[in-house]
Amino acid sequence: MRGLGTGRGQVAMLAIAVAVAGPAVAAARHHQPSPAPSADDRASQVIKTLSLDEKLQLVRGYFGATLKGAPPPLNAPAPEGAHGGAGYVPGVPRLGIPALQESDAGLGVANGGHLRPGDEATPMPSGLAQAASWNPQVAYDGGAMIGAEAAAKGFNVLLAGGADLARDPRNGRNFEYAGEDPLLAGVMVGQSIKGIQSRHVISTIKHYAANDQETGRMVLSADLDETSLRETDLLAFELAIETGRPGSVMCAYNRINGDYACENDLLLNQVLKRDWGYRGWVMSDWGGVHSTVKAALSGLDQESAHSFDREDFFGAPLKAAVLDGRVPPARLDDMAHRVLRSMFAVGVAEAKSGGAIDRDAHAEVAQRAAEEGVVLLRNEGGLLPLAPTVKRIAVIGGHADAGVLSGGGSSQVIPFGGAALEVPIKSGLAAALGARIIYHPSSPLAAIRGLAPGATVTFSAGDDVAAAVAAARQAEVVILFAEQWQTEFQDAGSLSLPDQQDALIAAVAAANPHTVVVLETGNPVTMPWLDGTPAVLEAWYPGARGGQAIANVLFGKVSPSGKLPITFPASAAQLPRPVIPGSDHSYSLFGAGDPAFGVPYVEGSAVGYKWFAAHGAKPLFPFGHGLSYSRFAYGGLSTRGGSTLSASFTVRNVGHRAAAEVAEVYATPPGGGLRRLIGWRKVMLRPGEVRRLDVTADPRLLADYDASAPGWRTRAGAYRIDVGASSADTRLSAAAKVDSQILKP
Ligand code: BGC
Repeated sequence: MRGLGTGRGQVAMLAIAVAVAGPAVAAARHHQPSPAPSADDRASQVIKTLSLDEKLQLVRGYFGATLKGAPPPLNAPAPEGAHGGAGYVPGVPRLGIPALQESDAGLGVANGGHLRPGDEATPMPSGLAQAASWNPQVAYDGGAMIGAEAAAKGFNVLLAGGADLARDPRNGRNFEYAGEDPLLAGVMVGQSIKGIQSRHVISTIKHYAANDQETGRMVLSADLDETSLRETDLLAFELAIETGRPGSVMCAYNRINGDYACENDLLLNQVLKRDWGYRGWVMSDWGGVHSTVKAALSGLDQESAHSFDREDFFGAPLKAAVLDGRVPPARLDDMAHRVLRSMFAVGVAEAKSGGAIDRDAHAEVAQRAAEEGVVLLRNEGGLLPLAPTVKRIAVIGGHADAGVLSGGGSSQVIPFGGAALEVPIKSGLAAALGARIIYHPSSPLAAIRGLAPGATVTFSAGDDVAAAVAAARQAEVVILFAEQWQTEFQDAGSLSLPDQQDALIAAVAAANPHTVVVLETGNPVTMPWLDGTPAVLEAWYPGARGGQAIANVLFGKVSPSGKLPITFPASAAQLPRPVIPGSDHSYSLFGAGDPAFGVPYVEGSAVGYKWFAAHGAKPLFPFGHGLSYSRFAYGGLSTRGGSTLSASFTVRNVGHRAAAEVAEVYATPPGGGLRRLIGWRKVMLRPGEVRRLDVTADPRLLADYDASAPGWRTRAGAYRIDVGASSADTRLSAAAKVDSQILKP
């Protein structure tokens, strides 16, 4: 306290010490227990003592790294004190407020641009793979694992929690997200955030909202009515925020109905902060700010990586706006308060960074997620699981000798031990940025050999069709790996597998009827060869021990239990937008000079399987589909209505293997309308074992959003409840009456 003076100064300083250090220190000083000050109280105390410049400093971020060789501003030297992650916001050392050290992202501590030479981490399977597990614990454990690694590496913010809905199965970032259903995405992303923050690392749900395609993401406007927005993309965010309570929300690049997401009053002030009562802070996506006063008044609390924006909007211009009253000083206080409040709420101010990483334990978390997320799409004649007695196996394609594929962009993780293989990219924005395709070092070929020690296992790369066919002819069983690399910055050109892999699969399957296709894809793909291939496994991007996870499923060490979190269309013609809007143009990184355009969300609330149902379109594989090595019988359905719907039913394992089943519950409102997933249960059952399962719907899932009420309006009458193994495999149905009601937004 030297030099601090006495009297009021000392009292103020003590208050700050309490605010920063928390209740334990305060209690010790007073020698008596004192009630814990809330995160809000602590933030308010700090705000009172901050100078204008210190407040401004908290709401303006820096790019935290130097991208050598990249064009300005990406190659600018990182600010002193930054850890080399994607973002950095200086702290207030005199008050013990740490800097925000921000790193991507939700699939592991990312380092795709090799921003921190030699820094490696454990990669989780893709977001779609995790969502396909339908197991909230998988998402929580993955989050906790990534949070622990982030903390060990000195980061206290993870730019993790991708909750954008998969409205288009060609969106290049679907692999970072959790599929097309708001309930499934909300639960899984919420749990992942909860896991991250359990390690005192702030999680940043993103990209709020409707950042549903990469093509023209900086200039497009997602155009849809408020009802549809609330029932789809926003509902996923709402549920995830309720579950995970993320310290921060990242607003998206795109516009919604004409207004940029980072200066969108409806999204930020009205929905997020007023209706949902969100208390954390809104940070912009990197290069996503377009104004000072409009953004600050519309609810943006912090400009990230300010050098990425056209102007230094939250630098000198914000100071001037506060001084001349265009942005009220109270609003600046609110912005800074929100940042501090989340730091206290998540505990980053007290958290210790550093420490060792238990790589094996973390890889196991990733492996379990991969094993639960693999989806057995087809298994004619029970080809899988493979018998241990099989003597000749031909493994073909997908760099299966080296490792497993991962997705590109800001979420890219460099795995411990380094990439197994790096392949240069030929075209597109990702290529211009010097990115490479990364394979994680978990070779499926090695894992297959490990589980079939008595077999001869050959490998052909698949680039020579004749050689692959010759190898297939020699084998009892073929395991053919097909891949589709996806990345931030660009969408899939089509639903087809790239690089003539369809022809390879068709030729190999014609040569050997016992061909298993293993897909490592970032998105759904079409399968013109499906009729000729008895078994197909969707393994997504399976992460740190993906090769082992795939082999364990192939040989039945694990019975597959994943279910699709996204519809696999039969063709692009079935989609709401057969051609991706804006795909006739190539875009610059930050959209400078690119033509603005609108994306008409003609599907409204009917996203994914709801669109297919509304149009009577038969997908290749429906939402929620996934086979098992066992069989399950459903029975004993009873339902309850009233202010919401409940269903109770039994699932019995009537097969011969211990296996997990995801039982899905859908509801259709009276008078037709969209049939929606209202809940599910995942249960592990031994052969013969039966379990009674209960599902109660969140009433918002039964309601229509009425923007004029405003609120969630349920329709009075009998809802149909379907219980089954997928959205298209209903085993039990019943009806129950729901009361008419309006729930506040
Ligand atoms: C991405 C964000 C990411 C940020 C920082 C942006 O390009 O859209 O998801 O967190 O970069 O790397």
